[in-house]
Amino acid sequence: MASIPIIQGRVLKLVNVVALLLLLLNLVECRDVVSLKSDKHTSHCRKHKASLADFGGVNDGKTSNTKAFKAAIDQLGKLASDGGSMLIVPPGKWLTGSFNLTSHFTLYIHKDAVLLGSQDEKEWPLIPVLPSYGRGRDAPGNGFRYQSLIFGTNLTDLVITGSNGTIDGQGATWWDKLQKDELNFTRPYLIEIMYSNDIQIFNLTLLNSPNWNVHPVYSRNIFIQGLTIRAPTDPISPNTDGINPDSCTNVRIEDCFIVSGDDCVAIKSGWDQYGIAFGMPTKHVIIRRLTCISPESAVIALGSEMSGGIRDVRAEDITAINTESGVRIKSAPGRGGYVKNIFVRKMNMHTMKYVFWMTGAYGQHADDHYDPNALPEVSDINYSDMVGENVTLGGNLGGLNKRPFKDICMSNVTILAHDPKKSQWNCTDVSGVSSQVSPKPCSLFKEQPIKCAFPTKRLPIEDVKLKVCTP
Ligand SMILES: *[C@@H]1O[C@H](CO)[C@@H](O)[C@H](O)[C@H]1NC(C)=O
Ligand SMILES: *[C@@H]1O[C@H](CO)[C@@H](O)[C@H](O)[C@H]1NC(C)=O
Ligand SMILES: *[C@@H]1O[C@H](CO)[C@@H](O)[C@H](O)[C@H]1NC(C)=O
Ligand SMILES: *[C@@H]1O[C@H](CO)[C@@H](O)[C@H](O)[C@H]1NC(C)=O
Ligand SMILES: *[C@@H]1O[C@H](CO)[C@@H](O)[C@H](O)[C@H]1NC(C)=O
Ligand SMILES: *[C@@H]1O[C@H](CO)[C@@H](O)[C@H](O)[C@H]1NC(C)=O
Ligand SMILES: *[C@@H]1O[C@H](CO)[C@@H](O)[C@H](O)[C@H]1NC(C)=O
Ligand SMILES: *[C@@H]1O[C@H](CO)[C@@H](O)[C@H](O)[C@H]1NC(C)=O
Ligand SMILES: *[C@@H]1O[C@H](CO)[C@@H](O)[C@H](O)[C@H]1NC(C)=O
Repeated sequence: MASIPIIQGRVLKLVNVVALLLLLLNLVECRDVVSLKSDKHTSHCRKHKASLADFGGVNDGKTSNTKAFKAAIDQLGKLASDGGSMLIVPPGKWLTGSFNLTSHFTLYIHKDAVLLGSQDEKEWPLIPVLPSYGRGRDAPGNGFRYQSLIFGTNLTDLVITGSNGTIDGQGATWWDKLQKDELNFTRPYLIEIMYSNDIQIFNLTLLNSPNWNVHPVYSRNIFIQGLTIRAPTDPISPNTDGINPDSCTNVRIEDCFIVSGDDCVAIKSGWDQYGIAFGMPTKHVIIRRLTCISPESAVIALGSEMSGGIRDVRAEDITAINTESGVRIKSAPGRGGYVKNIFVRKMNMHTMKYVFWMTGAYGQHADDHYDPNALPEVSDINYSDMVGENVTLGGNLGGLNKRPFKDICMSNVTILAHDPKKSQWNCTDVSGVSSQVSPKPCSLFKEQPIKCAFPTKRLPIEDVKLKVCTP
């Protein structure tokens, strides 16, 4: 091991007193860490630590660090069953192409460190398209798409964090290629984690992603906190969605600030016949204390790819400023699947095109082989305690004639219209109840003295704590 530049976190045979003191200090810094399978007697700080600089990394913002990341993570991956490892990205600018993560691993980005996405397409390998989408979203790609900047698949126990360190995707060249129709494959995401469990992503700043920012897919137990996500607003940075849980179970998103060119959060579960066949829903999602600015998109979108189903989503304490819509449901004939048991409360919105927006005729199909009779089921949506100021249209609610959206509940909602003379509701093929909603909703909502319920039973992901451990 002597030739491997790794500082061992716990070396019991060591008799050097200084090293022992350092070790104790190191352990003291690990605070309050419990995972889903919690063992209170074990420290969750990683046993092994290394710096990217130890693997030939160069922080000049010009030299590619793709090989350094690969060398470091290949080496640290071998220690997964021996207490896990942490890779520290020290201060400086670190240019890199796409790289893969490993299990029982922490990527720690120092507050003065910036990861920069490479502009060289050769640094972005191709991987198969997502099976639940059947093709790439930007281009069919002959079954392939670019791998994300930070990528992980089939992992367990992964942490991506830092004291608000930065990952800058430098996506402008990719946005430009999309707009000039020069892409043969779907643009890379900033962070994508597939088929994985126990993922924590917190205290980071994410800038200028080429495409979606954070994409957990086919995964469980995901805790995202304290992300600042920025990209220019539409139309400059197309599809720079903030956080997109996709066919995932147990997701918790808290304390994030997102300004981007698309939905701040978009919950998904596959596209048309591919998503129906894959059949993996997104469920048990909590979103709290989100602040969103997205002039051309939604605070939280459910869909439009929802063919595996979306259920039990709870959103609360949400602030939106200059955003197109609040919690938006997007679907279309051909999607199949469902969106149900959605709960939203305590939303404050200022300068909105729509407070409520549901669309049954969203369109956008993977190909022509979708089944037009595969109708989505949208029901059991509860909204309460919402205020919208300077709103263009309070509710734009369009369900499906052959399968109306039903059991929608709205209570204690105040909408202050930009133009108070204009009617605030446009409803077709929807039904539900309302209470204390002003201005009075369309007649498809029956007035009843109710409070739209929000679940009181906690979800397991609410009891998970962050694995906080500073290097
Ligand atoms: C990263 O993982 C993907 C999926 O397993 C694989 O295709 C690719 O070769 C890996 N890349 C590297 C650089 O190891
Ligand atoms: C990852 O897990 C998926 C689903 O279990 C499996 O189909 C795939 O082969 C695995 N990939 C790797 C690289 O192990
Ligand atoms: C993190 O950094 C971003 C960008 O510099 C800043 O806007 C944000 O306020 C910082 N977050 C925290 C919690 O310090
Ligand atoms: C895309 O494919 C076309 C046709 O094969 C090719 O001419 C072009 O160079 C490719 N573009 C990129 C960016 O790879
Ligand atoms: C994240 O950063 C904030 C602001 O700097 C800090 O208060 C908080 O303790 C950090 N959270 C974790 C889990 O480290
Ligand atoms: C109605 O909603 C507002 C805004 O969220 C909140 O301050 C108020 O307490 C709510 N009223 C009731 C009766 O719940
Ligand atoms: C109200 O919304 C309109 C767009 O509908 C916008 O132009 C105007 O600046 C907003 N007013 C305030 C006070 O934010
Ligand atoms: C009202 O809803 C219908 C059907 O969903 C839609 O076609 C129309 O554009 C909407 N009108 C406005 C003003 O948004
Ligand atoms: C929504 O709230 C209403 C009124 O309290 C309640 O009857 C209904 O069961 C709630 N919906 C769900 C899915 O819990």
